[in-house]
Amino acid sequence: MEFRRTCIFIFTLGALMIFIYIKWDWNLVWRLIPEPALSSAAAEPQWEDPGPYHVAYPRNYKFIMDDTPTCHTKTPFLVLMVHVATSDVAARDTIRRTWGSEKLVLGQLVETLFILGLPGGADAEQQQEKLKQENLQHHDLIQSNFQDSYHNLTIKTMMMLEWLAAHCVEASYVMKIDSDMLLHVTNVVKLLLDASRAKQNYMTGLVWWHSPVLRNPFNKFYMPGKVIADPEYPPYPLGMAYVMSLDLPAKILSVSPQIRPIFIEDAYLGMCLKRLGISPTDPPEETMFIVDPKHPLSSCSLSKVVAVTTTSIPQMTSYWERSRQPDAKC
Ligand SMILES: *[C@@H]1O[C@H](CO)[C@@H](O)[C@H](O)[C@H]1NC(C)=O
Repeated sequence: MEFRRTCIFIFTLGALMIFIYIKWDWNLVWRLIPEPALSSAAAEPQWEDPGPYHVAYPRNYKFIMDDTPTCHTKTPFLVLMVHVATSDVAARDTIRRTWGSEKLVLGQLVETLFILGLPGGADAEQQQEKLKQENLQHHDLIQSNFQDSYHNLTIKTMMMLEWLAAHCVEASYVMKIDSDMLLHVTNVVKLLLDASRAKQNYMTGLVWWHSPVLRNPFNKFYMPGKVIADPEYPPYPLGMAYVMSLDLPAKILSVSPQIRPIFIEDAYLGMCLKRLGISPTDPPEETMFIVDPKHPLSSCSLSKVVAVTTTSIPQMTSYWERSRQPDAKC
């Protein structure tokens, strides 16, 4: 009994001395926490693995190439943001030669930019060098330092919105368009010049109003119930080509931290729009946005289209040439 009491006394005395010592020198407390853990956590945040259904966004990505005069010395009415694979120089050159060359349309300035991440693969360094040369010639590449890949399209979209929100709020509209599309520039400008067209909270394209969340694990858009519980996505314009008013990028970015980004980029924008209480708008004509037509388009159909998917570079070129011919017979 006596021994136990002595032990308790010594222990209490020890604890008291440690306490006094710590009170005496608070720095000791900090010195007890391992130094390297603290400083490395501050310099390089430990990001969580996004897993197969989400993407690595937000992260501290930067823009490593964006010396374009667009939205810097020139304020366009419409900015065309083309999503293109880093290696697809042929698509970029074709667009520069065809619809990307239309810069003054119905009196409105239209500018085309290409948005890229980092090239991958064994020849990544060489590719990056070629991209620098390409940009030196055209000054139309916007590149951020995330890994460019199909799975990372949502990152590309969010970085596009970040760039627009930082540089292009003076411009009126942006159109995101994939590099395999034919764009009828006159028709999209006409659509946006329409007096009744909304200047704010406006988004249009081929709107999917009741897109089901796919539960078949073999589908490439499979999404388990633990990620998205709802049976349907909120309405969203199909990612191949959509237009938004330039107030929307900042608004979407403001709600994005509340909604973990999924890898399906257009559905994710729908989720952000819903949080904002904004609904996309159907285009005035069904003929305007066409995905994977069964047959090549007639000149009449081409004259009514805003954007249509193409199957090859020659088809895009011929569509563009035909869409420029006046008075298509309908
Ligand atoms: C997506 O980008 C992030 C950031 O660069 C990268 O860590 C990740 O490996 C990329 N994922 C794919 C599938 O490319």
